[in-house]
Amino acid sequence: MSAMAHLIGLKELSSEQIRQLVERGEYWAKRPMEQAELLKGRFVANLFFEASTRTRFSFEVAQKRLGAHVLNFIPETSSSVKGETVYDTLRTLEAMGVEAAVIRTKKEGLLQELAESVDLRLINAGDGTNEHPTQCLLDLLTMKQQFGRLEGLTVAIVGDLRHSRVLGSHLHALPKLGVKLLLAGPKSMMPQPALIPAGVEIVELDEAVQTADVVMMLRVQLERHAESLYISKEEYHQQHGLTLERAAMMKPGAVIMHPAPVNRGVEIHTDLVEHEKSLIQKQVTNGVAVRMAVLEILLKGSDIRWESSLATVN
Ligand code: CP
Repeated sequence: MSAMAHLIGLKELSSEQIRQLVERGEYWAKRPMEQAELLKGRFVANLFFEASTRTRFSFEVAQKRLGAHVLNFIPETSSSVKGETVYDTLRTLEAMGVEAAVIRTKKEGLLQELAESVDLRLINAGDGTNEHPTQCLLDLLTMKQQFGRLEGLTVAIVGDLRHSRVLGSHLHALPKLGVKLLLAGPKSMMPQPALIPAGVEIVELDEAVQTADVVMMLRVQLERHAESLYISKEEYHQQHGLTLERAAMMKPGAVIMHPAPVNRGVEIHTDLVEHEKSLIQKQVTNGVAVRMAVLEILLKGSDIRWESSLATVN
């Protein structure tokens, strides 16, 4: 099975492949009530070894909208608790005719390892602090809907950059698509310099907020920190968060995004979460459309050349 049979990360995809996924997501976003039969009778499984609300449920909605049979694996009540590995779990599902597995795991790079040794299609729903490709794709779709284009936009990603797998995917995708990427955040939460591609700029928070078309705030991922936050949540908000005062400095037409869940009053003022500048709810809605596109292309379009028009994915 070729690597393109899976969605492991956006690092491996070309700009054309990313655009095709976003465009197909746009197709489904325009058909929010449509129930398709594209995956009728086919089995897919969701394996979440880390907590999730929107990724897990939007994959399930996407799978059901495409007509698939959905199996939800619960680690706590599975043979994982007896020590069965993810590899052996996938081989077990494979033996039952399950064709695709959506996996969220703490272990970075696990899907890459597994992709070489299993026959199911693997979809990365977040691996540690490495990548969260479908979140990035839904963010791109949301930006494209808002601005009508991606090329030439300036996106500022702000906050706990070091622990963000969403940033991990955007670091690869945005530069490939001609989007200018600015990073801002506390020094202790900056990504390793070796991970930052050429052309991506680290700037002060106020400059990021004033310059960007999209201000994307990231949650402080306390669960991934070795030590507790060195300042109070209120201090973090004032020093590093999107306060009402900072939001007032945004360019006309600029928007607020956040992959969520949000820490209201920490990285973002609570009044900004549902503010008219906020696309956070739209991002969640687009999660279904993008995940339909990914499932469709991996399962229905498995023999479709990525170079070909998505019009053939029908
Ligand atoms: N954005 C995101 O991945 O949210 P969940 O953890 O709720 O899936």
